[in-house]
Amino acid sequence: MAHQKIQAPKGVSEYFPDRSNLFEHVRDSLIAPAKKSGYQLIELPVFEDTDLFRRGVGESTDVVSKEMYTFEDRGGRSITLRPEGTAGVMRAVIEHGLDRGQLPVKLWYSGQFFRAERPQAGRYRQFYQVGIEAIGLDDPAIDAEVIAIADAGFKSLGLSKYRLEMTSLGDAASRAAHRIELLKFISGLDLDEATAKRAKINPLRLFDDKREEMKSNMAKAPLLMDYLNAESSEHFNKVLGYLDRMNVSYVLNPRMVRGLDYYTGTTFEFVHDLLGAQSGIGGGGRYDGLMQELGGQALSGIGFGLGVDRVLLAAEAEGVINQDAFVSDLFIIPLGEEAKKMALAIAHDLRAQGKVVEIAFGDRGLKGSMKAADKTGATYSIVLGESELNTSTVELKHMKSGKSSSVKIDSLHQHL
Ligand code: HAM
Repeated sequence: MAHQKIQAPKGVSEYFPDRSNLFEHVRDSLIAPAKKSGYQLIELPVFEDTDLFRRGVGESTDVVSKEMYTFEDRGGRSITLRPEGTAGVMRAVIEHGLDRGQLPVKLWYSGQFFRAERPQAGRYRQFYQVGIEAIGLDDPAIDAEVIAIADAGFKSLGLSKYRLEMTSLGDAASRAAHRIELLKFISGLDLDEATAKRAKINPLRLFDDKREEMKSNMAKAPLLMDYLNAESSEHFNKVLGYLDRMNVSYVLNPRMVRGLDYYTGTTFEFVHDLLGAQSGIGGGGRYDGLMQELGGQALSGIGFGLGVDRVLLAAEAEGVINQDAFVSDLFIIPLGEEAKKMALAIAHDLRAQGKVVEIAFGDRGLKGSMKAADKTGATYSIVLGESELNTSTVELKHMKSGKSSSVKIDSLHQHL
């Protein structure tokens, strides 16, 4: 009797050959600029105490109120699969005292995140982010560097059809001044119960309401950018000035609302033009109260998370990424037992010199092995038979053009 096949859970993103090559390339390219800037790896659990996200990310957010994968573990503790990375990083920094040394603490991470959203193109229930966090100083130059690091990752992939949107949520005093006016404005609106409840926890959320009537309601609402005090404006203007100096272009979007509640001051999003509804390829900002909220000292921080799945879709949509870069340099076809030994030795040496080399296994004969060589897309192939072993010379065949030349086995490396 045939057993029923099991499928992956709904809405997860998976990568397998050949597309996994592209995924790996995108992920590594996005984080490379952070490594060049002195950020160091932090590896954290994918599940945490549920309270971490309730307190860290905020009860008014969709992420916490509707999208968390929360379950009771065998010891009766409430556990949640991480919906984002910043809260976990802060938990670890506090728990392990990483903030007691040199500041800022500069960390990068990469991995799976989980949100029970309605799956669609570019929106998954398990997705991938790379991110960085710089904790401990509120120098506006750090804000600019963090943003430039994200931008450099996108640029290194060849992306150009995206924009950086920027705003400032100001300091606590600016937000308090704005909140009074915003609440006054909102009290004049006729809100349903759920919306009123959200507005009570975080009135800024109403700027994020996608319903047409709410959009027109909020068109005249007071904007936080207009309530920034002198200190907050100065910080933000410095950030913009530094970005100008690095030729990182941006547009201001005073209506931006991030999906997480911890943001303060400089806040930003990268939006791609070719991705339709799920156009956010990355975002981040300052979170100056988060550490204290989680029981740590009152240190500021700033960081970003970039959506690797969406950046891959963006790179494909722009046509700036393809498989050709991920093929082997050489495919070796051994004919017979002696040739097989030689093939293993040659491949071993060439790999030590940095070449990507594959061998035709399984004694499939010349025809079958040639087919295999074609399939891998390798740049060159050689056949090792008795005469090749006797003369220590092979025909190095360039697979695309079909041209070949006689090459001494010892000097293969120079010809690849
Ligand atoms: P976020 O904007 O919620 O920020 O997520 C960052 C990026 O993750 C998004 O721009 C998007 O590309 C990707 N992303 C989010 N949800 C999904 C999904 N369901 N499917 C596919 N991709 C998704 C954060 O998570 C913050 N922790 C970033 C941060 C770090 N802020 C400060 N430090």
